Amino acid sequence: MAEIVVVSDQQSAGELSAQIMVDLIERTPDAVLGLATGSTPLALYRALAARVADIGLDVSRVRGFALDEYVGLPEGHPESYRSVITREVVEPLGLTPALIHVPNGSLDGIEHAGPDYEEALTAAGGVDVQVLGIGTDGHIGFNEPGSSFASATRVKTLTEQTRRDNARFFASEADVPMHCITQGLGTILRARHLLLLAFGEGKADAVAGAVEGPVSASNPGSAIQLHPHATVIVDEAAASRLQNLAYYRYAYANKPAWQTL
Ligand code: GLP
Repeated sequence: MAEIVVVSDQQSAGELSAQIMVDLIERTPDAVLGLATGSTPLALYRALAARVADIGLDVSRVRGFALDEYVGLPEGHPESYRSVITREVVEPLGLTPALIHVPNGSLDGIEHAGPDYEEALTAAGGVDVQVLGIGTDGHIGFNEPGSSFASATRVKTLTEQTRRDNARFFASEADVPMHCITQGLGTILRARHLLLLAFGEGKADAVAGAVEGPVSASNPGSAIQLHPHATVIVDEAAASRLQNLAYYRYAYANKPAWQTL
């Protein structure tokens, strides 16, 4: 079972998850971080940037792999995930840009961009901590319902709902790309630790499905149930439809002191 931690607000979630990253980087200065985009992980990236500055943590050797990218956006487009990761993560944390990988969503060479990315991930030794958000339809990365649990990085077609959800970042829904390239569920499951964050009532069904729903390709987030080390940090609203919520609180409150997240 994933470990569920319910926090009062996004800032606490950010601080708690930033601590996981700080511990990892202190242990492994060239750690491989799995980076997610979307609004959810921003609290983590902000808290981590503040901690890195506060304690003077050396992050110059930290490596990063983004989960996904839109296909066909012009290079440098402000909403490409390459730009978002640069703006929200690489610059504020002071990471070394050459060590940060994002799937190549340019149309030129798109046929082999998936296998190329898998090769780079393998060469790096895999991801230490994979940050995940979750879409309202349960998608993680851009693995929409129906994605195989064995899938690798590949090009996918976004659902209409995801294009609608993401239209807020673009001038209109029609401007949201139709295709994306995303790490597969199989790729994500190979990360050594999954850290899924979700906030707000709008994510309550997706969280309940991921944590307690049947393990099914119809609900990509439920793949986390197959992972031996998954941590889910949610606020009260996102936790509100979990059946076993009382037990998760009880287990966390009574967590053995020697166990870390
Ligand atoms: C996008 C990203 C996902 C993210 C999801 C939720 O579709 N590809 O990685 O988890 O949006 O976004 P938000 O965190 O903004 O709700």
